[in-house]
Amino acid sequence: MSHYGYSLFPVPGPELTRGLEKFADALDSACSLRPKHRAALPGVVRQLSTFLTTDRSDWPRDYMTRPEYLSAYLRWFMPWNLFRQGILLQGLGLDLPAGSRIVDLGAGPLTFLLALWLGRPDLRDRSMEYIAVDRAEPALKAGRDLFSAMTGTATTNWKVRTERSLAGHGRLPKADLLVAANFLNELETSARSSRAGRGSARAGSSDEDEGIGGGLEDRILVRWQKQVTSKGAVLLIEPGTRPAGRQLVRMRRAALEQGWRVAAPCPHAVECPLPGARSGAWCHFTFSSEGAPGWLHKLARKVKLPKERASLSFLLLTRPDSPISIRPFPRVRQGEGLALVVSEPFELPDWKQGRYACSDRGLLLLEEKSHSNRGASPAGIRMGGLHPGDVAIVQWPRDLRRDSKSGALILPRASR
Ligand SMILES: C[S@@+](CC[C@H](N)C(=O)[O-])C[C@H]1O[C@@H](n2cnc3c(N)ncnc32)[C@H](O)[C@@H]1O
Repeated sequence: MSHYGYSLFPVPGPELTRGLEKFADALDSACSLRPKHRAALPGVVRQLSTFLTTDRSDWPRDYMTRPEYLSAYLRWFMPWNLFRQGILLQGLGLDLPAGSRIVDLGAGPLTFLLALWLGRPDLRDRSMEYIAVDRAEPALKAGRDLFSAMTGTATTNWKVRTERSLAGHGRLPKADLLVAANFLNELETSARSSRAGRGSARAGSSDEDEGIGGGLEDRILVRWQKQVTSKGAVLLIEPGTRPAGRQLVRMRRAALEQGWRVAAPCPHAVECPLPGARSGAWCHFTFSSEGAPGWLHKLARKVKLPKERASLSFLLLTRPDSPISIRPFPRVRQGEGLALVVSEPFELPDWKQGRYACSDRGLLLLEEKSHSNRGASPAGIRMGGLHPGDVAIVQWPRDLRRDSKSGALILPRASR
């Protein structure tokens, strides 16, 4: 096995680390918190957290316009999203040609824009147009103020515009890169409730247009196809939860059927081996939160939501011949394949450890001897080596066994 140092989730670089540290000051200067909201923050963060990671249908759609929820979003969710998205953008190494136009649907406080700024400082000199679309003007305004506070006068090559509207409404120029981050869940929820309320006063809204039925994913893609240039791309970033992972797998299937390419994370275009059906594993990535700033960890203790690991799921779709690409996966020779690690290491019998990986032959179980547990607890697992999001080259052995529990093809150490 060769590792090649290819990781979709590298440790945060210096610009991202410094930027996240500085973000606390930007919040204080651009979006200062009223004393009553400061006192209520931990409780509101916990409430919002339950809402954002479960079914959102019971929640007010305008939560981002309500000061207490917006404050909680800016101080808790936004910095964690900056951390997650910043690391992903660093690892993906997106090649965005000069003059690219990014349209960010459900942009909220322009999280993606700032994550790109912090995660890809090499793109700062490149001319870029960014349009944020959201129905909540207060979130967009907070985003504009925060971006100015973070970048000062250094933004001359990035043209930033915000549009207060429902996604899919209004006339926007076509995007080279359409982004939807932590947004699909809301779209799905509103589509579901629109469908339930068909015939009611809400019928005919844009949410209805995006409705479920006849394949929500197909309909969304048809709509997005009209919003993206013929050589454009769509980047979806969602939480690392099972429902989000399952939805991205459905989007991936629909996209392949409609002629899109899947540029990432999959190192193949065959059926996803991690669809998350019933209690089965789903495609998502976890990584250490150690690189997050001290002030955020401190807040995590205060709100009693300590975070040792961060997680997300994502999908990058491109139209054929799109100039938008990622850092190329390692090249393989005859008899070799790519394995994208999708799990943390776990203990196996006989002092072995395993990790699941995704490949064009389906799910793999990468097996190896566990070294660290000599004299330590039997549960000790070596945490070094491959991490979720790492891409390795494997040599296919002639005979492959299957793991009886997961059905994964077992690749012993010697085969890699
Ligand atoms: C969870 S936030 C995500 C914000 C940002 N993308 C991020 O990753 O931090 C979802 C955003 O979608 C917006 N939103 C929900 N439904 C929308 C719709 N139909 N049209 C436009 N914006 C919408 C909400 O106002 C909110 O700001």
